[in-house]
Amino acid sequence: MIYLKTDEEIELLRQSNLLVGQTLGELAKWVAPGITTLQLDKIAEEFIRDHQAIPGFLGYAGYPNTLCVSVNEQIVHGIPSNYALKEGDVVSIDCGVVKNGFNGDSAYTFEVGEVAPEVKMLLKTTKESLYIGIEQAVEGKRIGDISNAIQTYCEHRNYSVVRELCGHGVGKHLHEDPEVPNYGRRGCGPLLKNGMVIAIEPMINLGSRNIVVERDGWTTRTKDRKPSAHFEHTIAVRENGPDVLSSFRYVEEALGIPTTK
Ligand code: MF3
Ligand code: CO
Repeated sequence: MIYLKTDEEIELLRQSNLLVGQTLGELAKWVAPGITTLQLDKIAEEFIRDHQAIPGFLGYAGYPNTLCVSVNEQIVHGIPSNYALKEGDVVSIDCGVVKNGFNGDSAYTFEVGEVAPEVKMLLKTTKESLYIGIEQAVEGKRIGDISNAIQTYCEHRNYSVVRELCGHGVGKHLHEDPEVPNYGRRGCGPLLKNGMVIAIEPMINLGSRNIVVERDGWTTRTKDRKPSAHFEHTIAVRENGPDVLSSFRYVEEALGIPTTK
């Protein structure tokens, strides 16, 4: 069951997703060698609560924290811990909030100091593939157009696409219909309609696409232990094209890199 959002609901979703963007921007100032992933989690939780919102992941399906923090071979759903980031790591920080009853959901993969050139390219391509997918989020196209655009972009560059995990609808619930896979066929899947709000979140591996879920029941990593990258935006499908509700501008300002969207 796909809920189409009203203009008013989309404005509330924009506020929630803006706060996620601001939280990621705050975290960007702290990502450096030596900080633990649990320290990042505490910074995020305090920031969110200071902004009249609550962490969206905390307690969701029993998830124990505010952030999912996934380092190197970890793909997504890494549980914050006493692990201290070190030079050369890459770290996906996935953040969700609930504000005024609506969810925000967005993720960014950060470089910790200098990272290997091949890993830098993996991050660049994964972020680019997110925007390539977003371009397809126009009324009248289908979910498979988004999926295929991401898959084609990444596989042509010899990266692999994680298949077991997908993007999703976003609204009063963190995970709503439809599923938004990062692989698929053009012209297939649910029809995109004005007012649909979806999270698009490519998870792209340097090595093989195979995954393993750790014994904590959450942390998902590459089977071959090669690095993985993850970027996520929540967007609204509109008649005239995609409306990106989350934002990387706070992250990119904090990092001093050119702003995308
Ligand atoms: N962005 C992640 C996702 O859509 C966040 C979910 S983590 C959970 O899967 F713990 F809340 F499940
Ligand atoms: Co998500």
